[in-house]
Amino acid sequence: MKFNKTVEHSDFTCEPNPGFGEVQVPVLLWCKVTKDNPVPDEVHLGNLSNYPINPFSATLHYGQSIFEGLKAYKLDNNTGIFRLKDAAERFHRSGKIMSMVQLPPEVFETCVSEYVKECSKYIPDYPLHSLYLRPLMFANDEKIKVASSKSYIFMVMSSIVGDYFASGDKKTKVLVGKHFTRAFEGGTGEAKTAANYALSLTAVNQAQDLGYQQVLYLDNKTKTNFEELGGMNFFWVQNGEIYTPELSGQILHGITRKTIIEIAKLKGLKVHETQLSLEALINGHKDGSITEVFAVGTAATLVPLDVIGVLDQDGKIEDYKFEAGPVGEMLKQYLIDTHNDKTELSKKYLTKVF
Ligand SMILES: Cc1ncc(COP(=O)(O)O)c(C=O)c1O
Repeated sequence: MKFNKTVEHSDFTCEPNPGFGEVQVPVLLWCKVTKDNPVPDEVHLGNLSNYPINPFSATLHYGQSIFEGLKAYKLDNNTGIFRLKDAAERFHRSGKIMSMVQLPPEVFETCVSEYVKECSKYIPDYPLHSLYLRPLMFANDEKIKVASSKSYIFMVMSSIVGDYFASGDKKTKVLVGKHFTRAFEGGTGEAKTAANYALSLTAVNQAQDLGYQQVLYLDNKTKTNFEELGGMNFFWVQNGEIYTPELSGQILHGITRKTIIEIAKLKGLKVHETQLSLEALINGHKDGSITEVFAVGTAATLVPLDVIGVLDQDGKIEDYKFEAGPVGEMLKQYLIDTHNDKTELSKKYLTKVF
């Protein structure tokens, strides 16, 4: 792999707490890969510019597109990329599910590290700010024919992101409804692919029209068990123990989910990865045994869910209210400390670039 570097650095600045994903870091890494040659000969690292897409490009028509989301944090003397290996492995797996090139994890790791070396200077010193990295791969064959593409473009781009909670203490409300579907058996629920997000938008719009921010999905088959939110994994605390839906085959294998489970175990908490039903939530709310409900993901770390609204067939909504509590707060703080190189897990999960 040869890196062809043509980046010209500019006077890039950004205000504290910009909207998520809105600040475009002016650097782009890209390369071509094919099924026969998944290790690119040449990788370009240059300035972000309008990347031309031929209207015949298969990705626009047939949707073969996968991505990752991970963060790099400014540390005392270097920059730490959190769980780079896990993102590389998930990207490799997403490629398989979507019949695309399976980018070798080493290529992913080298490209993301080279990108971060070039861009770490753009991470501001404001607290809890980071470089949100967006590796992306999409089909590049140029013909109108339903087939998996032979050639692909792999890119790395990024955005400066701030403290997710900076906008104040607005209540987080999520909606559950039996008619909402994000993933299904034999589908693409475990892949981080554009298709899953496209599918979720009508449901999210409906939830937002009703005053909720996100949808909390039930399994598509029985409509009884929780799966995840559109962009985060789901947890609750019951009788002091941690519960999260098991990886059913339709849920994204969240990297924050995995980290929160590890932190909880490290702190001596019992963790159950199992089926979590809507009925169990309602009962646990009623008898007070479920004390905290939260969602986790790279973008926001850990977000307590204040209200879970359950929409019935007649359009009536019953709200179940919860409060943020000490278990979620402790897990979130440990996670943030890990990102900042302050815990025993930091060594394991931060890839340092200088
Ligand atoms: C559908 C979905 N579930 C869960 C997550 C959380 O995953 P991670 O912790 O790896 O960010 C995401 C994150 O983008 C997601 O899109």
